[in-house]
Amino acid sequence: MKTLIMTFALISSTVAANLPSEFDRDIYISGEKIFDNKCSECHVKSMPIPLLMKNFLEENNQTLKLKAPTGNEISFRLKQQVGHKEDMEFHLIQTNDFLKDYLFNPNLAKTICLEGVIKHFEVMPSMKDKITEEEIEEVNHFLYFLEGFNGINEYYHDETKF
Ligand code: HEC
Repeated sequence: MKTLIMTFALISSTVAANLPSEFDRDIYISGEKIFDNKCSECHVKSMPIPLLMKNFLEENNQTLKLKAPTGNEISFRLKQQVGHKEDMEFHLIQTNDFLKDYLFNPNLAKTICLEGVIKHFEVMPSMKDKITEEEIEEVNHFLYFLEGFNGINEYYHDETKF
């Protein structure tokens, strides 16, 4: 029994050591709640990218009939298009600045999305007075760590690693 406990302790400390120090589980969870309450009426949280690409690029959004890009698409594009991913702590600030600016003053001229995706949508309504800067920071944390397939983080597909 003692060996078993030791083994578990060892495994969990190894897993925890793999998490970037910038990741904060509590902020991620409260950011997800904000996403559920304030974004998900338009943004589906996550769908497989091949399905999304087929829907947007080949099927003119007629299969999924989405109202907006999904959370995982935004997660990927945020990290790919905004700032410099080499320094995660600074990158989180950069994606947060983009998000704050876009949520308060949305404008398709600033889009980070693919042309073939964004052409299906009208510009999103401003969220001024609907979300605070603190809430944006939390939703930014959630979106940043939501999707992991682009090599920036590998946690998304196994939430037990959180
Ligand atoms: C009433 C519907 C609606 C709500 C609510 C909404 N969005 Fe959007 N959002 C859209 C649409 C439509 C687009 C695509 C057009 C655009 O980019 O402006 C979009 C695009 C975006 C983009 C990509 C901007 C770009 O073009 O690069 C981000 C980031 C985003 N939303 C974040 C959020 C977050 C975070 C929330 C919640 C706090 C939220 N949205 C709430 C409709 C919505």
